[in-house]
Amino acid sequence: MTRTPWRTAVVYEVYVRSFADSDGNGEGDLQGIRSRLPYLRDLGVDALWLTPFYTSPLADGGYDVADYRDVDPRFGTLADFDALVADAHAHGLRLIVDIVPNHSSDRHRWFQDALASPPGSPERDRYIFRPGRPGETPGEVDPPNDWPSAFGGPAWTRVPDGEWYLHLYAAEQPDFNWRNPEVRAEFEDILRFWLDRGVDGFRIDVAAGLVKDASLGDLNGRGRRVANGPIYSRPEVHEIYRRWRRILDEYDGDRMAIGEVWTDGPEDLALYLRPDELHQVFQFDLQLAPWSAPAFRDVIEAALKAVAPTGAAPTWVLSSHDSVRHLTRYERPGGVPGMEYARAKAALLMLLALPGSAYLYQGEELGLPEVRDLPDDARQDPIWKRSGGGQPGRDGCRVPLPWSGTSEPYGFSPDGVRPWLPIPAGWASLTAEAQADEPSSMLAFYRRALAQRRDLLDELPEELEWLDSPETAVFFTRGPLTCAVNCGENPVRLPPGRPLLTTMPMYGDLLPGNAAAWLH
Ligand code: NOJ
Repeated sequence: MTRTPWRTAVVYEVYVRSFADSDGNGEGDLQGIRSRLPYLRDLGVDALWLTPFYTSPLADGGYDVADYRDVDPRFGTLADFDALVADAHAHGLRLIVDIVPNHSSDRHRWFQDALASPPGSPERDRYIFRPGRPGETPGEVDPPNDWPSAFGGPAWTRVPDGEWYLHLYAAEQPDFNWRNPEVRAEFEDILRFWLDRGVDGFRIDVAAGLVKDASLGDLNGRGRRVANGPIYSRPEVHEIYRRWRRILDEYDGDRMAIGEVWTDGPEDLALYLRPDELHQVFQFDLQLAPWSAPAFRDVIEAALKAVAPTGAAPTWVLSSHDSVRHLTRYERPGGVPGMEYARAKAALLMLLALPGSAYLYQGEELGLPEVRDLPDDARQDPIWKRSGGGQPGRDGCRVPLPWSGTSEPYGFSPDGVRPWLPIPAGWASLTAEAQADEPSSMLAFYRRALAQRRDLLDELPEELEWLDSPETAVFFTRGPLTCAVNCGENPVRLPPGRPLLTTMPMYGDLLPGNAAAWLH
């Protein structure tokens, strides 16, 4: 088992478009990130993951890439990127970038060439084009199979000459044909392009989806994500990551790859973590779990079990740019006001005490809630658009960060500029500036917890031991550190130890409801 700093790293997800806008176009950019590196260093994270900043029409927030080797002008230039890498490293921060290999943008030159070329041409073979099949009524044509798009509607769109192309996501995101060697060679070259520029690794988008079953057979009622089904986690996908691992290993330093892998079963997750494949995969278990001690114990146990045979480090996530912010998930209708803040602090102590690597999502350190009341005309998520407004989509967790001041743009953009998504009135107390010197703030708590974790890290074994606890609590130890989380409403007796960090004042040896403590 290789031990690299990634095994215990705290990685901060930067949703580039919403982080910091330096040039006043209302969207975040690379220079904006650069200007905030001291904030990230002081927060105490080890690495940054940047969501896609490549040339893109932003049909899916940049997960629709038109040129994999350039920066979209609204986010900056390649020179800005180089400067950002250098500065991040100078601040002691590693930097990983998102790679989007399952699909490109429909504006990508290859897709434009495919559209301009006839069925059966080599240009079409870089994507997945097929004839339709006869529909039920004579003369009607149906898509080539029954696959749904993850964003709603069918996964196929018909082009004027009658062929259909596959898109597991939006129609603007045609899927590549990974059985075509040209596609493989292209992505290996793209990896090298960014590795040569100094990135420390990659977050692989839709990592399980690259190779589809050659026959493109129907799902016939099976779930989209069924392992070894026609779409995700086909055995052929692993060949690709073995190749990529060899490329990463050619470079100096600890270059890494983490896969975004959604699977039905944990056994399947482990396949990606074989020693010659990916270093990590996201384990979304905590993100999906409700605020409940039995649920937390179960998902932690299962997540640890899933990676144990591989020797890879587990990973933990509470929020991302794809999910409702956990602060809001932890609200309880009719609960005490502010309960969700208490819970979010407690969840952080649990997250950071677990063995392995933690992924934080920008804004959680400010205690940002999901913004549920965005005006319809501001929403941009293809989920919102493809569902005809039926589903809110993910814009509510992508609202730009409030940095300072008392009204929009809250220091996100230069004064007078309207951010790409409106920032709610009433966020004045949530700005980084307002929280920086306020000891009871979420930001101050994140800083303390991250600093404490760093101090302890060398003493912590990778194994976790469960301690007996009341049903409503989660107690575990890692060597000298005990973590106690009370998910119930009533106080519980703390396990033994000297309190190092608590989410609220303790009363003697009682841990209040919705609170957590680290004990030494
Ligand atoms: C996962 C990304 O995190 C999400 O934002 C995106 O929409 C899909 N993959 C498609 O690329």
